[in-house]
Amino acid sequence: MQKESLLKVKVIPNGPIAIEGKVEIMLPDGNTVEKEKPFLCRCGASNKKPYCDGTHVKIGFKG
Ligand code: FES
Repeated sequence: MQKESLLKVKVIPNGPIAIEGKVEIMLPDGNTVEKEKPFLCRCGASNKKPYCDGTHVKIGFKG
Protein backbone atom coordinates (compact mmCIF):
# COMPACT_ATOMS: atom_id res chain seq x y z
CA MET A 1 0.00 0.00 0.00
CA GLN A 2 1.39 3.37 -1.06
CA LYS A 3 1.74 5.99 1.66
CA GLU A 4 -0.22 9.17 0.97
CA SER A 5 2.03 12.22 0.96
CA LEU A 6 0.79 15.04 3.14
CA LEU A 7 0.98 18.69 2.26
CA LYS A 8 3.09 20.54 4.82
CA VAL A 9 1.85 23.81 6.29
CA LYS A 10 4.31 25.77 8.38
CA VAL A 11 3.23 28.50 10.77
CA ILE A 12 6.13 30.94 10.91
CA PRO A 13 6.52 32.60 14.32
CA ASN A 14 5.42 36.26 14.11
CA GLY A 15 4.86 35.82 10.37
CA PRO A 16 2.87 34.16 7.62
CA ILE A 17 1.74 30.62 6.97
CA ALA A 18 4.05 28.87 4.49
CA ILE A 19 2.50 26.20 2.30
CA GLU A 20 5.22 23.78 1.28
CA GLY A 21 3.82 22.54 -2.02
CA LYS A 22 1.49 23.35 -4.88
CA VAL A 23 -2.04 24.36 -3.92
CA GLU A 24 -5.19 25.72 -5.49
CA ILE A 25 -6.49 28.82 -3.71
CA MET A 26 -10.11 29.87 -4.00
CA LEU A 27 -10.34 33.66 -3.85
CA PRO A 28 -13.27 35.64 -2.39
CA ASP A 29 -14.57 36.37 -5.90
CA GLY A 30 -14.84 32.63 -6.58
CA ASN A 31 -11.87 32.44 -8.95
CA THR A 32 -9.16 29.92 -8.23
CA VAL A 33 -5.42 30.23 -8.74
CA GLU A 34 -2.68 27.62 -8.51
CA LYS A 35 0.31 28.64 -6.43
CA GLU A 36 3.59 26.92 -5.67
CA LYS A 37 4.75 27.42 -2.07
CA PRO A 38 2.64 30.49 -1.25
CA PHE A 39 3.01 32.50 1.93
CA LEU A 40 -0.41 33.37 3.36
CA CYS A 41 -0.96 36.40 5.56
CA ARG A 42 -1.67 35.60 9.19
CA CYS A 43 -1.50 39.13 10.61
CA GLY A 44 -4.42 40.57 8.65
CA ALA A 45 -2.50 43.68 7.52
CA SER A 46 -1.22 42.60 4.11
CA ASN A 47 -2.17 44.74 1.12
CA LYS A 48 -1.99 41.63 -1.08
CA LYS A 49 -4.33 39.32 0.84
CA PRO A 50 -4.47 36.42 0.99
CA TYR A 51 -0.71 36.59 0.45
CA CYS A 52 1.91 37.96 2.82
CA ASP A 53 3.58 41.18 1.63
CA GLY A 54 5.91 41.64 4.59
CA THR A 55 3.70 44.14 6.42
CA HIS A 56 3.74 41.91 9.51
CA VAL A 57 7.28 43.15 10.16
CA LYS A 58 6.25 46.84 10.00
CA ILE A 59 3.33 46.36 12.39
CA GLY A 60 5.31 44.20 14.82
CA PHE A 61 2.94 41.23 14.51
CA LYS A 62 3.31 38.72 17.33
CA GLY A 63 1.74 35.35 17.05
S1 FES B 1 1.69 37.79 7.72
FE1 FES B 1 2.94 38.91 6.41
S2 FES B 1 1.76 40.63 5.89
FE2 FES B 1 0.47 39.50 7.21
